[in-house]
Parts: sequence; C-alpha cells; structure tokens
Amino acid sequence: MPTAPTMSETIGLLENRVSVRKFEDRPVPGETVNAVLKAAFRAPTSSNVQAYSVIVVRDPAIRDRLAKIAGGQAHVSKAPVFLAFCADLTHVERAVAKAGQDFGGADLEMSLVASIDASLVGMAAYLAAESLGLKGVMIGGLRNNPVDVAAALGLPKRVYSVFGMCLGFPAGDPPPQKPRMDFSQMVHDDRYGAVRDERSPEQALGDYDATLAAHYRAIGKETTDNSWSHEVGGKFYPQPRPNLARQLAELGFDFA
Ligand SMILES: Cc1cc2nc3c(=O)[nH]c(=O)nc-3n(C[C@H](O)[C@H](O)[C@H](O)COP(=O)(O)O)c2cc1C
Repeated sequence: MPTAPTMSETIGLLENRVSVRKFEDRPVPGETVNAVLKAAFRAPTSSNVQAYSVIVVRDPAIRDRLAKIAGGQAHVSKAPVFLAFCADLTHVERAVAKAGQDFGGADLEMSLVASIDASLVGMAAYLAAESLGLKGVMIGGLRNNPVDVAAALGLPKRVYSVFGMCLGFPAGDPPPQKPRMDFSQMVHDDRYGAVRDERSPEQALGDYDATLAAHYRAIGKETTDNSWSHEVGGKFYPQPRPNLARQLAELGFDFA
C-alpha cells in the first residue's frame, strides 16, 4: 500500500518557519516584491471582492514614523522592505457607484470581509517571500494608531492597514522556533471537544506553559513558570487599543 504524502516544499517551509527581525543589509529588489505580491493576489478572496491593497514602503522617514507608531519597533525602520497590508473598500465603493447604487457604508460584514481578504493576501505573500529565501515578521503594532498610519501612508477613507510586514534576507541563523500548543489539543473530530488527547485542556495548558518557559529560558529570555498564560493575560488585560473601534470607524470601517 503506498503511503499518503505528508511532506512537500510548502509543508517544509511552514514547518520550519519562524519570525525573523534581523536582516542583511541587502536590498530586496522591486521585481522580487512584485513577484511575491502578484502570487499573493491569487489568494482566495470573498465573493471576488478583492478588498485589499498593499503599500510597499521604502521611504526612511515614513518607515521611522511607522516604527514609532508600532511602539518603537526598530525592525520596521531597518528591514530592507516594509509592506503594509490594507483592507480596502474603495474598489467596491467605486463599483457600486458605477452600477448606480448607494454604497451606504462599511458595516461589520464588509469590514470583516476586507480585513480577512487583506490577511489572506498577507499570509500568501509571506509564504511566497519565504519560498524565495526571504524571511520576515508581521507587524500588528500598526493597529496602535490606524489613524496615524493612514496619515503616514496617505490612505484615503475606507482603507486601513490591518498589519504590516518586514521582509529581507535573514542575518545569521534564524532564531529557534517558538513551540506551539499541541496539535492534539487544537484539532477536533466532527464536534468541538472531541480532541485526540488524553489530557484535560487545563493539563495541556500547564504542559504548554512549562514547554514555553523552558524555550524562553533556553534563549535567555526572562519568563515566569506559567509563561504563556502570564503572557496572554498581560497582553489582553487590561484591554489594549481601547480607541481602535472609534479610529477604524473614522477611517470608514464599522466593527460595531
Ligand atoms: C497579525 C500579526 C501581528 C504581529 N505583530 C507583531 C509585531 O507588531 N511585532 C513583532 O515583533 N511581531 C509581531 N508578530 C509576530 C508574532 O509575535 C509571532 O508570529 C508569534 O510570537 C509566534 O512566533 P513565530 O512567528 O516566530 O512562530 C505578529 C504576528 C501576527 C500574525
């Protein structure tokens, strides 16, 4: 009996991937960025709305401004190229007007559709870039202040940057991979809860906390014994970005 295939170039890329924040001082040519983005634009898109756009940011002054908005992330300034993946409803708005209809506004569904479309293009671009030997990291820090990002990038109404991406040729060896939660806790058969793991979710969480703590200690990063629980608790409580919904509404996206 032939065995089912479990390995491919794409699976190999994903299994080995890790966020990289240090880059060689080697430019990423425009043709390379274009090839990455052209491939990424073949990502699936909800009802073919293609509600995204990408800003290729090379201007050092704009990059410094984005780095500051992202909370002082030096790699945003230093990476050879920075891409801002945007949810963009201007194409839809134009088409609706051409068809003689009234756009009205971007409700929750449209706002989600555009954000999901932009995210799928972002991940596809990331993978395409890795396939050409580039590495990088996504930058959600742009959502610290979407209004300032829109001003820095000249985004019109109905466009906001969902996240950015630093890309470049990696300097030195990539950092060790950050362990993920166990596959057996994350995959359910037919109905939620039917996981392939003897352990309770609480036991699995305890094990993951210990695994991540060991990883952080091995790379010299300070942590606590309940590493992941502590990290996630600190990240989302108190609520980060309390002005986000208001700012996105200002930019023409209603997530209410
Ligand atoms: C949408 C998104 C936003 C992110 N934002 C940032 C960021 O602002 N700064 C950063 O250094 N890493 C950022 N990351 C990278 C994550 O921290 C990283 O993927 C995660 O810690 C897992 O590590 P790994 O990618 O090396 O496996 C982001 C990742 C995603 C998917």
